[in-house]
Amino acid sequence: MSVPLQFELHTVESIKSTNTALKSLAKDGAPEGYVLCALQQTAGRGRMNRVFFSPKGTGLYLSILLRPALPLSPAALTCMSAVAVFDTIRSFDLPCGIKWVNDLYMHGKKVCGILVEGASKQNGIFDYAVCGIGVNLFPPLEGFPKSVADKAGAVFDRAFDEELRKTFLKRLLLRFKHYYDQLPALTFAETYRSNQFCLGKPVLFSAETGMRRGTAESIDDAFRLVVDSDGEKISLDRGDVVLLD
Ligand code: BTN
Repeated sequence: MSVPLQFELHTVESIKSTNTALKSLAKDGAPEGYVLCALQQTAGRGRMNRVFFSPKGTGLYLSILLRPALPLSPAALTCMSAVAVFDTIRSFDLPCGIKWVNDLYMHGKKVCGILVEGASKQNGIFDYAVCGIGVNLFPPLEGFPKSVADKAGAVFDRAFDEELRKTFLKRLLLRFKHYYDQLPALTFAETYRSNQFCLGKPVLFSAETGMRRGTAESIDDAFRLVVDSDGEKISLDRGDVVLLD
């Protein structure tokens, strides 16, 4: 990007959803680099209208406002955000894997989800894009809700630590800026591809004809997941895949 990204950090105790609030601020003219961070969300949202569990004393919930001057796909911003989180977790010497398209996993459990939303002007250029990132940093005292207990995990296996939350946030924003400032060069793409843990494995995915099985093969130039299903190559641009082994 020609103008380096500069952050303006705003932290609130509690909010319904940082994405919803930041989209509204974006419509009212908030500048690129506006970061809205909450200690708790009461109506955190994930992809496909899912709820994102966001209690106090557990995670990092933030949204970053971008006004990119170049045509960019939501998928590129999602993958760039995922790599920024990946690098941040790795900077603590912790293991981490990326699951197409927007999830980060540690020890087989999801620790982070990403939700990019925006409005386009024309020619694929965003009027604004909001990158929403939710990281489960510490295990909730009361445990994860039943609905996600077998899937959700936390980055750190210790009680809530505000200094560590702040350090994580600082490192994450630096990695995000690092990749954003280099656009349109997709310098995060290699890390995104090489740290996918589904590639080469059997997966279940939803196709027009219903659920299908296949082998996850690669991530293409548009960040679609290419699956081989009975010899047919299918490029997925949305949805989830379920790992079968
Ligand atoms: C997903 O797992 O499907 C995406 C989850 C995204 C959650 C983050 S938390 C900050 C921002 N505000 C929201 O309401 N959602 C995103």
